[in-house]
Amino acid sequence: MVNLTINGTQVAVEKDATIYDAAKACGIKIPILCHDKKLHPFGGCRMCLVEVEQMKGRLIPACTTPVTEGMIVQTTTDEIVKARKLVLELLLLKHPIDCPVCDAAGDCDLQNLTFEYKVNTNRFVDEKFNHEIDYDNPLIERDMNRCIHCGKCARICDEIVSYGAYTFINRGIEAKMGTEFDGPLNCEFCGSCVSVCPVGALNSRPFKFKARWWALQKTKSVCSYCGTGCQLTLGTKDGKVLTTVYDENQGFHNGQLCTRGRFGYQFVNSAKRLTTPLVKKNGKLQEASWEEALEVVTSRLSAGKSDPASVAALATPRLTNEELFLFEKLFRGTIGTDNIDHSAGYAHAALTKGAKASFGVAASPSEIADIQKSNLLLVVKSDAYETHPVIGFEMNLGVKRKGIDLRIVSDKKGKLTRLPGAKTTVHTPGSEVALFNALCKSIIDQGLAAEGVAGLAELKAAVADATAEKAGVTAEEIAALAKDYAAAEKALIILPIGLGYPGHDAALANAAANLAILTGKIGKEGCGLLIMGEKNNSQGAADLGIYPKSTGLSASAIIEGCGNGNIKTLFVAGENPVVSYPNRQKVEKALENVEFMVVADLFLTETAQLADVVLPACSFAEKSGTFTSLGRRVQMVRKAVPAVGLAKSDFEILNTLSAAIGGARYNNQAEIFTEIASTVPAYQGLTQGKLGDEGVVLPVTVSAKLVPAVAKAVAPVAGKLALLTGSALYHSGTMSRFGEGPMYVCPTAYAELSMADAASLKIAEGDMVTVTSATGSVQVAAKVGKRVPQGTVFAPYHFGEGSVNSITDGAAVTYVTVAKK
Ligand code: SF4
Ligand code: SF4
Ligand code: SF4
Ligand code: FES
Repeated sequence: MVNLTINGTQVAVEKDATIYDAAKACGIKIPILCHDKKLHPFGGCRMCLVEVEQMKGRLIPACTTPVTEGMIVQTTTDEIVKARKLVLELLLLKHPIDCPVCDAAGDCDLQNLTFEYKVNTNRFVDEKFNHEIDYDNPLIERDMNRCIHCGKCARICDEIVSYGAYTFINRGIEAKMGTEFDGPLNCEFCGSCVSVCPVGALNSRPFKFKARWWALQKTKSVCSYCGTGCQLTLGTKDGKVLTTVYDENQGFHNGQLCTRGRFGYQFVNSAKRLTTPLVKKNGKLQEASWEEALEVVTSRLSAGKSDPASVAALATPRLTNEELFLFEKLFRGTIGTDNIDHSAGYAHAALTKGAKASFGVAASPSEIADIQKSNLLLVVKSDAYETHPVIGFEMNLGVKRKGIDLRIVSDKKGKLTRLPGAKTTVHTPGSEVALFNALCKSIIDQGLAAEGVAGLAELKAAVADATAEKAGVTAEEIAALAKDYAAAEKALIILPIGLGYPGHDAALANAAANLAILTGKIGKEGCGLLIMGEKNNSQGAADLGIYPKSTGLSASAIIEGCGNGNIKTLFVAGENPVVSYPNRQKVEKALENVEFMVVADLFLTETAQLADVVLPACSFAEKSGTFTSLGRRVQMVRKAVPAVGLAKSDFEILNTLSAAIGGARYNNQAEIFTEIASTVPAYQGLTQGKLGDEGVVLPVTVSAKLVPAVAKAVAPVAGKLALLTGSALYHSGTMSRFGEGPMYVCPTAYAELSMADAASLKIAEGDMVTVTSATGSVQVAAKVGKRVPQGTVFAPYHFGEGSVNSITDGAAVTYVTVAKK
């Protein structure tokens, strides 16, 4: 520790602290403009000038000056105040004083400091900037006339987002924060730069002129897209969500969000929201009252009690824990059916079956915090950035700031593979399990297994015939990766799972877990396996048992059951199987065939259109409850706006139905949380009050065990391309299609080809192509790039038109032909 004195107060801080950090630690405020705790110090604005006695009265920037033992610092002498006023005068010289029409007014550091330092005149005169304003995209407005050259946007985009969209261009008075060739912004549109801009130079366009900042009501909640569980603050007014408000102190991610979190909230206000129940009459869905709709559903579910095997229920892991608990209680408890599931079955099997078998618990043994504590990250699939972008930020920070070794095993390249020092092993599609088995065999063969690992002999026998060739990589690559992984003091395996990844199943979780267990990299900080559930509450759905537990049908078997008439009543809460489950034609036929289907959803989705009763449900912003993130953090979701139209939360819907058919009735969702805490072991002792703003990470007791995993053979088909499905960077499931941000950046389905395949098929970027498999064909636009290796084609699964599930059937890899339309 280093001891120093600031304004007469003694303070002791870590030796790598700056004067600014030390002052903050003892509650002394030093004004800043270019400094941000998340970014490397810049020292550009000189607003934080202080005086250090040992430096003979020279004024120095507090944000870049490290503390030294015995330092005596003054932060508010007359001379310092004079210097800061001068800084403000110089900044205001070029800055347009257009606060009345600036969206940052009230939340502008320059405005606040000008007020605080009473800079009401300017001794200097100069012309204002006359830069053209960039209105090119509908998400971020760039008005460089207001820019104060703090450089924060460029630093965050480079250091955290790793995109590098900005740089200073020109010199001296002509200097400007510019983009590539000074053109319009064309990037990931995560909005991180907007969040840190201290003035109104970068603005959120969806929020423009919607409300003054100070008139917003601010509600802390949790993002409802992916499993990362980013905390966010919803800015609302007149019952509408108008923006997400940046709070640098929120969450492990310091308030940073991705495109979905920052600009995807508009689905809450979408004009396409369902506002009233619909009941099918004469073959057509027609508006109905809640009484009428619930009466139909109640009588159907009541009848189902006498034949529970004919009833099935599918829930989206976007519901709150309380809603999922009630869902389970209603269908498994009151009706007595075990036919309940979520996400097609395979999408969560890595947790419910894989982790359960390998670790004795249906959860990751690791947390998000382990990423930065690790020495080596082994990521399965380059898409981890696309599926969980803020985890991508964490990995990026670990790699750049802590020198974490980043290894990726993937069937294609992506943003992660471009991070500095990242080494990617590109394997053949569908061979992930074979690759991990080969790594385990190599560890054993090289004598790198930890001592005394139980079950080693069985695993050795099980992987005896595993070869690098089966995964399409060289023996040298496998041997080197195995050696590096074993040598790392701490190594963490990261495995994204979700509807787009049929191959990321229980066997893959076992195979990856085996590698960690075999090398003793389990149960330690910075080690283990982080299974990244696709949806905001994928972990909660696993914790609350939303999957068949004994003889019940899994999601795909439920669809079969609807098709063959065994399932007569299907309740769907928020799932959209028509677009997101494999084999669209089969799913549509089955859902058309089922005697009675009720869908509770926010939108009239492709699935809801086939229902007999549609119930309008609330979004996350219209209800309270909890979500559990992929790192097992349980966090509060708080109601920020009233329900749209006549929509009700899934809690209200399920609670009413439960009471009507003789099940439990709760007074509020918090009451259910109390019951969860007394019946679900991991949640024991929790109360919603204890969660606070930060949430609570659930404890996990791991009982690690080697579980041999069988690698399914994937035989390439001559003359065909291997179709890989997954997530587009800006989307999550099918809900993001109703968010302005994600839809601007990625509005339609596409098929991404390698340059070599595109050339031989005479396909150019943007051409419409027909992708044909054994089960059907779709027409989508082509993308051509370097990410996809020759012989493969990638398509995201989120879109209803040109939906990729029209040509897949749930196999890890589907073989297709691609031809120009
Ligand atoms: S929106 Fe994100 S990717 Fe685009 S410039 Fe800003 S920080 Fe960079
Ligand atoms: S645009 Fe904003 S964040 Fe970027 S340099 Fe200018 S003032 Fe700073
Ligand atoms: S989508 Fe995921 S990564 Fe993006 S803000 Fe939401 S929780 Fe965070
Ligand atoms: S905040 Fe220290 S120089 Fe800008």
